[in-house]
Amino acid sequence: MVKSALLFAILAVSARGQQPSPAAIAGSGEDEAAVVRGGEAFAAQCASCHGSAARGLTPQTDLMRSALVRADTRGDRIGPFLRAGHPPTKPATLNETRAADVIAWLHAHLYGVAHAGASEFLNLLTGDPQKGREFFEGKGGCAACHSATGDLAGVGEKYDPPVLQSLWLNPRRRRAVRTVTVTPQSGPSRSGTLERIDEYNLVLRDGDGAYRSIALEDDEPRVEIHDPLQPHFDLYRRLTDAQIHDMTAYLATLK
Ligand code: HEC
Ligand code: HEC
Repeated sequence: MVKSALLFAILAVSARGQQPSPAAIAGSGEDEAAVVRGGEAFAAQCASCHGSAARGLTPQTDLMRSALVRADTRGDRIGPFLRAGHPPTKPATLNETRAADVIAWLHAHLYGVAHAGASEFLNLLTGDPQKGREFFEGKGGCAACHSATGDLAGVGEKYDPPVLQSLWLNPRRRRAVRTVTVTPQSGPSRSGTLERIDEYNLVLRDGDGAYRSIALEDDEPRVEIHDPLQPHFDLYRRLTDAQIHDMTAYLATLK
């Protein structure tokens, strides 16, 4: 008795199919009831080959990548394809209404996949800008190098939130010049801007603008690199998700 109730519960869940998010349904403009019915039909007749969210069991059966599905408008491509004898294992083909429902469900999923970036975009701004500001001026240590009214003024206008977030978590090496001091066991040390370094060699440019290539062997010479972006790279490991969201929300207010 308990067993069959459990089995029933499992079947009920799997028969529903994976529904697109409410935002994706709204964005796609499809009728919600049709999408829900389509999800049930898809779970029953298509998911065994195309997966519960139509992402396929193989790249060939990923319907979100299918050119035919992507080119479809209100069933003008998928409809004829199904009518011509797909799915291949049919005892029963979908009737036109069910086919239209399945197509509505596919469109809502496709919208969700195509706009995944946009929902991340909204999620990024769920942080608390006031907390972000406190962190910026306090423990985050950002104010030691940046100013909200100076170099970062207007970043919230200049960049979309996803770009803004990746910029501060992993900034581009634009104006961030690495400097290096090389100290051999005997003889004078040299300093300059670091142009290149690998296992065997480093190239620096000294104060006169001359390039010098220096061979590296074991601990000879001693090399000290100062990277102004190091604080950013170190941050990544230290921050919590909430701190990241708060900071991005704060930076987005710098308009
Ligand atoms: C027995 C496995 C199987 C079932 C069940 C199945 N399909 Fe497919 N489907 C495939 C395979 C394999 C392909 C890709 C190769 C091909 O075109 O034959 C495909 C291709 C498609 C394509 C075209 C993709 C393209 O880009 O050409 C659509 C649309 C599609 N299926 C929709 C459905 C729908 C909707 C259902 C349920 C009503 C369904 N399929 C059920 C195996 C299946
Ligand atoms: C030790 C100095 C230093 C600290 C501390 C620091 N940064 Fe930076 N940051 C830099 C440098 C250098 C760059 C690269 C400058 C450039 O690209 O022009 C940069 C780049 C950025 C950028 C990209 C700016 C742009 O216009 O491309 C943002 C945003 C940023 N930092 C935010 C932060 C935040 C937020 C913190 C604190 C959590 C922080 N930084 C801590 C030095 C620092």
